[in-house]
Amino acid sequence: MTAGTAAAEAVGTAVVSCRDVVVEFGAARVLHGVSAEVRQGRVVGLVGESGSGKSTLAKAIVGMNRIASGELWIDGEEVSRASRSQRHRLYRKVQYVPQDPYSSLNPRRTIGQTLAEAIDPVGGTPRRHTERIAEALEAMWLDPSDARKYPHEFSGGQRQRIAIARALLVDPSLIVADEITSALDVSVQAEVIRVLQELKQDGERSMLFITHNLAVAQEVCDDVVVMLHGEIVENGPTERVFRSPESEYTQKLLDSVPGGPGFSL
Ligand SMILES: Nc1ncnc2c1ncn2[C@@H]1O[C@H](COP(=O)(O)OP(=O)(O)OP(=O)(O)O)[C@@H](O)[C@H]1O
Ligand SMILES: [Mg+2]
Repeated sequence: MTAGTAAAEAVGTAVVSCRDVVVEFGAARVLHGVSAEVRQGRVVGLVGESGSGKSTLAKAIVGMNRIASGELWIDGEEVSRASRSQRHRLYRKVQYVPQDPYSSLNPRRTIGQTLAEAIDPVGGTPRRHTERIAEALEAMWLDPSDARKYPHEFSGGQRQRIAIARALLVDPSLIVADEITSALDVSVQAEVIRVLQELKQDGERSMLFITHNLAVAQEVCDDVVVMLHGEIVENGPTERVFRSPESEYTQKLLDSVPGGPGFSL
């Protein structure tokens, strides 16, 4: 057995796993050796104050940030050891949904065109994929006829649901959702959270869910990872972490929530 195979087995059913991941921007080291994983079917919350490195980690996982050292495993394969074409295939398995779907949905393309492209980046047209597009829209509480509309015809919450539909159509192993509810009004946040909870029920979708909002994390996540200054200070099942945090910093975060622990949306 090669070392590579042994390591792959140790990763087990993790869909994505980071080992000692370091990210630097010029001389500034922002992630100081982060190790974390998301297992099949789990929704993992990534919380921590602004600037703690949550987006930096998310972007390292989806290939938008260069990893200076450490390992990134996607579906049991270590990315840096993969060939260029393999790497391209691996990164398709991790789909990033950004905070602002305005910047990620092309304003000149209909929703149908955008979704067809997610299914088939080379020759996707809405007509060839009508059924899958309709299904994806319906799963996000949208109407199949919405495929003919443009992004500006939708509300923020609807656009965010379209961005999730697009990510799902790639059939990824992991969805990385970076503050996808934080730019929305509270009532619209609840709408996006409800679709996420519905999505969770099939038990197969794995998600890394980044949020400032501990109430949202409590609502949506099976596990939470708490970051501070580019390091993980706590990691465990949401219920345990919120009930009896091991780290002082997590306790501080919980104390800072209006209404204290046990808060709800
Ligand atoms: N492209 C970049 N170039 C230089 N520095 C960066 C870059 N991206 C992030 N940083 C720095 O890395 C640190 C972590 O930023 P990051 O965006 O990961 O934080 P965050 O936890 O996502 O914060 P927020 O909750 O505000 O989104 C910050 O100090 C930030 O200034
Ligand atoms: Mg961020």
